[in-house]
Amino acid sequence: MKLEQMYEGKAKKVFATDNPDECIVSYKDDATAFNGLKKGTIRGKGEINNRLTNYFMKKLEEEAGVPTHFIEELSPTDTLVKKVRIVPLEVIVRNVIAGSLSKRLGAPEGTELKCPVLEFCYKDDELGDPMVNDYHILAMGWTDKETLEKIKEYAFKVNDYLKNFFSKIGIDLIDFKLEFGITSGGELVLADEISPDTCRFWDSKTKEKLDKDRFRRDLGDVEGAYQEIIKRVFSHE
Ligand code: TMP
Repeated sequence: MKLEQMYEGKAKKVFATDNPDECIVSYKDDATAFNGLKKGTIRGKGEINNRLTNYFMKKLEEEAGVPTHFIEELSPTDTLVKKVRIVPLEVIVRNVIAGSLSKRLGAPEGTELKCPVLEFCYKDDELGDPMVNDYHILAMGWTDKETLEKIKEYAFKVNDYLKNFFSKIGIDLIDFKLEFGITSGGELVLADEISPDTCRFWDSKTKEKLDKDRFRRDLGDVEGAYQEIIKRVFSHE
């Protein structure tokens, strides 16, 4: 079923299958930060990110009305997904100031935002994923107006769903990054992953960081943070 490798990214590999409309995503333990400048391994990350992503993609389809690329989990690290053409945008939603927004606005991390903030970055490693707005996106033809509006609608739906979910397991959803794709049938779907690599999770009480910032900032016990997230998510059921 798993045919030739089509693509290798920083955290995942993508393989062709015998169905031209489907592919297999294989999650790696490799971790990078700062556009690949910092490299490492987070033991068990591939399995954790695969299982968490699939869990949330299923929930988002069933309970939040957000279509996704997810088809079927094949193994602890491999998942069958719809083949998509990725819209070249990183779609970021923020509830609390952290990371690059803290630097950009000169406001301390942890500052509450009065309402969620939506940002777009153009996916281009050579350019360092520059922040862009609706005008750049439409003028460059990266997607059309109707699709862009749908992306925004889905991004806020994902935020509402995840924020509520994580609040019940004692975690503040600070911010996260999504990617969307277009299937061979022309449907806009949520793609990529939802994991501690792509979200900031802080313990609600202690504000301890339980995400990839532990790797980015050398805070120690990176594996423990990923394990804590999966333990709390699955003990919720
Ligand atoms: P930022 O504060 O560094 O802009 O990150 C915002 C969110 O996006 C945070 O949850 C981490 C996530 N993110 C990625 O998933 N991939 C990236 O390459 C970067 C820079 C951030």
